[in-house]
Amino acid sequence: MSDSQQAGTVRIFDTTLRDGEQAPGCSMNLQEKIEVAKRLEKLGVDVMEAGFPASSPGDLASVKAIAGIVKDCTVAGLCRSLEKDIDNGREALAQAASPRIHIFLATSPIHMEFKLRMTPEQVLEQAVSSVRYAKKFCADVEFSAEDAFRSDPGFVCRVFGAVIEAGALTVNFPDTVGYAMPDEFAARIRYIREHTPHIEKAFLSVHCHNDLGLAVANSMAAVGAGANQVECTVNGIGERAGNASLEEVVMGIRVRKDYFGVDTRIDSTKIYGTSRLVSQVTGVKVQPNKAIVGDNAFAHEAGIHQHGVLAKRETYEIMTPESIGIPRTRMILGKHSGRHAFEDRLKDLGLQVDKDTLELVFAQFKDLADKKKVVSDRDIEALVMGVSAAAPETWKLDHWAVNTGSALGASGTVRLLHRDGRSEKLVSMGDGPIDSIFKAINRIIGKDPELELYELGAITGGSASQGESMVKIAWEGRHWNGRGVSTDVVESSIKAYLSAVNAMEWELSAGKANGHV
Ligand code: KIV
Ligand code: ZN
Repeated sequence: MSDSQQAGTVRIFDTTLRDGEQAPGCSMNLQEKIEVAKRLEKLGVDVMEAGFPASSPGDLASVKAIAGIVKDCTVAGLCRSLEKDIDNGREALAQAASPRIHIFLATSPIHMEFKLRMTPEQVLEQAVSSVRYAKKFCADVEFSAEDAFRSDPGFVCRVFGAVIEAGALTVNFPDTVGYAMPDEFAARIRYIREHTPHIEKAFLSVHCHNDLGLAVANSMAAVGAGANQVECTVNGIGERAGNASLEEVVMGIRVRKDYFGVDTRIDSTKIYGTSRLVSQVTGVKVQPNKAIVGDNAFAHEAGIHQHGVLAKRETYEIMTPESIGIPRTRMILGKHSGRHAFEDRLKDLGLQVDKDTLELVFAQFKDLADKKKVVSDRDIEALVMGVSAAAPETWKLDHWAVNTGSALGASGTVRLLHRDGRSEKLVSMGDGPIDSIFKAINRIIGKDPELELYELGAITGGSASQGESMVKIAWEGRHWNGRGVSTDVVESSIKAYLSAVNAMEWELSAGKANGHV
């Protein structure tokens, strides 16, 4: 192990903003990516992969923005093994305190023959020359052998040895298609350690996909076999069945420190809040029985279990909810609660807001508490997200009304205020109240984005619950999410639609300013 490698520590390389974000339905707007990046920094990830700068002007801009803000961890940009991608990566990471260029090139026979149309020797040569090129501007270069698990192990060792000689400080061994079994994967990692020239000069990383539900198991097996970086995503989001879930990898290593003899730098008490944030911004719900962060992860239903936990917690709990940031006892928040109690709850939930946001959210909390007896943690998260991850409001809801019934079509009226001060009002007919209002909004904004997803749910149970709406819209090949909450479901839907529209308007105008659109 080189001096730069800390014995006993496994690096956590988070790729929520790249592999996670590129999964269907997980896209985030710039503001949301920045919120997630700030939270990952506080969580203590060693590296965050902020995006794939050459993939789109939007990705380049978001990696640039994150690189300018995040200071306490390495920010990586993914690049194909091409000079033009590496140039984009260099531009995007120029402001980063600790930049990393992450280059990938496939090494499996099937990828080399059918996707790259290159011979193994050409792949080896291109891998080395791209690492050499990146090293001219960036000291920290990682090389990934895409589809490494289905590659010839001897060939991967040759490629890894050559890129380490060219200056790569990390070599990553992905199971790109989630094909490996844990004992085979561990054996392969041992083989790579034993047969790669100068492997001691580099970090050996793994990156597992979850096609057979084994991404975490394979990552843990690799740690046991000597991998010292794990690539993962919050809530396990990612291509197809997803990536290894960060929270499961981190808590697996921590709870079984006796077994692995290593640990990570992660502040586990920030895990729950980060998981909630990623779920909120992507609109991808966490399944109730998900390990570590699912709603039922610490719920004991059976009488025997309840009795055991009451007598001694460790009978059925191998970690505490507090250790991942779920406070066990809470005061109820309602209309008599003051600012102090509200601020304390934000802290408990890991929600850090500036003074202005606090004022706004507290006022909204008071309004909500007037309508509902008890304001839940989920309500509070939704209020904070609605303010802090929202794009600046080009359009603001002033007033709405709908008229609907079983015999008539629906009509919707909406009045919006534009940030330049003008007010626009329109009535539209539609297929139900939501459709009529969305059509009226489209006519006001002069665009007709495709509604890719519309979801309506209740934040908590009971008829006093707030309605939470999620929409995804697409316009000219780009996608935006919006969320809205209100005790009225039509209003929550309008708010969600407007927040997606505002994200679109903001990014399109920022793009124009940068000459991208
Ligand atoms: O799954 C994969 O192989 C990847 C690489 C780009 C690291 O995501
Ligand atoms: Zn991947």
